[in-house]
Amino acid sequence: MAGGICVSDKRLDGQTVVITGCSVGIGKETARELSRRGAKIVMACRNTKAAEKTADEIRRETGKELLVMELDLASLSSVRNFAKALKTSEKMIHILINNAEKENIRIPIPPSKIFLIKGACQKKIIHMFLG
Ligand SMILES: NC(=O)c1ccc[n+]([C@@H]2O[C@H](COP(=O)([O-])OP(=O)(O)OC[C@H]3O[C@@H](n4cnc5c(N)ncnc54)[C@H](OP(=O)(O)O)[C@@H]3O)[C@@H](O)[C@H]2O)c1
Repeated sequence: MAGGICVSDKRLDGQTVVITGCSVGIGKETARELSRRGAKIVMACRNTKAAEKTADEIRRETGKELLVMELDLASLSSVRNFAKALKTSEKMIHILINNAEKENIRIPIPPSKIFLIKGACQKKIIHMFLG
C-alpha cells in the first residue's frame, strides 16, 4: 500500500467532525480513528442504514457520539436538506472531511478547497461547500 503514515497523536475531545461517505472504506476508518481521538462524528451518508451499522460498531469501540445524517451529494436538494439539518443540529463544526466520491458527483468546488477545513465556523462551511 502506498502513502504516508500519520504519526500525530493529537486528541480531538470536544470537537465535531463532519465526514461525507463514511459508512465504508477510508471514510469509515477515518471516522473510527477520529472517534478514538475523542471527536463527535457527524456521518454524512447516502446509505443511512449502512451508516447506522457502522456508527454502532464504532460507538461500541470508542464510546463516543456518532450521528448519522442523510446526504446524497449527487442531489442538490439532498445537499440543501443536509445543510439545514446540520445547522439545526450542530453549534460548531471544527473539521470537514470531504471523503465521498463517485463519478456521479459533480459539485462545483474548487479543488484547492476540498480536503480538510479546520477552525472555520459552521455557517461559513455550509456556504462554501454545501450551497
Ligand atoms: N481507495 C483508494 O485507493 C483511494 C486512493 C486515492 C483517493 N481515494 C479517495 O478516497 C475517498 C474514499 O475512497 P474509498 O476507496 O474509501 O471509497 P469507497 O469505499 O468507494 O467509499 C466511497 C464512499 O462515498 C460514498 N458516496 C458515493 N457517492 C455518494 C453520493 N452521491 N453521496 C454521498 N456519498 C456518496 C459511498 O456511499 P455508498 O455506500 O452509499 O455508495 C461510500 O461511503 C474517495 O474520495 C476516493 O476518491 C481513494
